[in-house]
Amino acid sequence: MTRRYLPGATIGLMGSGQLGRMFSIAARRMGYRVEVFSPEKDTPAGQFADREVTAAYENESAVRDFAKGLDLLTFEFENIPRQTIEWCSAECEVRPGSSILHIAQNRLREKDFLSGAGIPVAPYRAVHSASELATALEEIKAPAILKSAAFGYDGKGQRLIDRAEELGEIWRERPGDELILERAIDFEKELSVIVARGQDGTMATFPVCENLHRNHILDITVVPARVSVKIEESGADLARTIAEKMGLVGLLAVEMFLQAGGNLLVNELAPRPHNSGHWTIEGCATSQFEQHVRAVCGLPLGSTEILRPSAMANLLGDLWDPGEPDWAGALEIEGLHLHLYGKKHPRPRRKMGHLTALASTPEKAIEAVLRAREALERPTE
Ligand SMILES: Nc1ncnc2c1ncn2[C@@H]1O[C@H](COP(=O)(O)OP(=O)(O)O)[C@@H](O)[C@H]1O
Ligand SMILES: [Mg+2]
Repeated sequence: MTRRYLPGATIGLMGSGQLGRMFSIAARRMGYRVEVFSPEKDTPAGQFADREVTAAYENESAVRDFAKGLDLLTFEFENIPRQTIEWCSAECEVRPGSSILHIAQNRLREKDFLSGAGIPVAPYRAVHSASELATALEEIKAPAILKSAAFGYDGKGQRLIDRAEELGEIWRERPGDELILERAIDFEKELSVIVARGQDGTMATFPVCENLHRNHILDITVVPARVSVKIEESGADLARTIAEKMGLVGLLAVEMFLQAGGNLLVNELAPRPHNSGHWTIEGCATSQFEQHVRAVCGLPLGSTEILRPSAMANLLGDLWDPGEPDWAGALEIEGLHLHLYGKKHPRPRRKMGHLTALASTPEKAIEAVLRAREALERPTE
């Protein structure tokens, strides 16, 4: 039977960054009480929650006390220690379930799960020693990418290997203990599909997103993706198949590479709202954050119909280098929406906010969002 959590229930959130902030806004707007847990104070999510709890994920009594007061717990990111999730599961309902987080926390487990389920992925090998690295490179062939298996995000813990001669130095500077070597894919485009699945197995996919990265960090998302209907359908099918095989209750973002010839390879999974889905706040009938609430609460999923072509541009901390960005200059542009995450310190590469532009075509939406970001780069007098 579907266990429903209706408005008025208390939802707990592990993690307190921008994804949690936008989740909290959606959930509170729908009448839920939101409590967030993380090791930090005055966080992006905490600023919009009913209650912000500050304690370490390893602090068992704090974690259990937090979970005891909740009807339901969910996550804004997957890198929460397994033990923490188990403590919570003993006290309240946890969605998505801990087995899904366990898979998504580690790139090797994720790739093993995907290839075991018959989902196409880039050739990869597990690497635990210098000799395994040499063998893996022989089998996979350069160029290849060496990644830490755990705790990587926004390109952290990744290294491109062009030539076998570099191996000695690369092994000394390896980005972690457990590693994965993947073939560097010569892709035509990067795409992502966000799928929601309810406890009763119903699913809804958002329109396929086209993603442009800069220095391994998402820079621009544009929707609709400029791909054929056939590719849109295969992308959505892949996402639905993965969600089904995982037994997901919640939201799952599936990052993919589109190769010349139309082949899709799955790159990465994120069982939560995703940066490439931020445009849905204004551009889609239901935002990814509202859909997350609906899916984990056992409510009917909302329509994922696109309202207007949309483009999203991330705002990284580097933007603040010359001084305070020109907010008014950017907001003069028609169809432009500003989101700032309430972070105090604009460090380089740190995601501080994003812009979304809606327009009559994807190209015009990209043009507007880039023009707005350029306006921001001119500091106010
Ligand atoms: N095997 C690969 N081939 C080509 N590009 C890759 C590959 N793996 C990662 N990249 C590039 O690096 C970006 C970030 O890598 P990803 O595996 O998604 O890690 P994360 O997003 O967790 O940092 C990808 O979106 C892509 O642009
Ligand atoms: Mg990624």
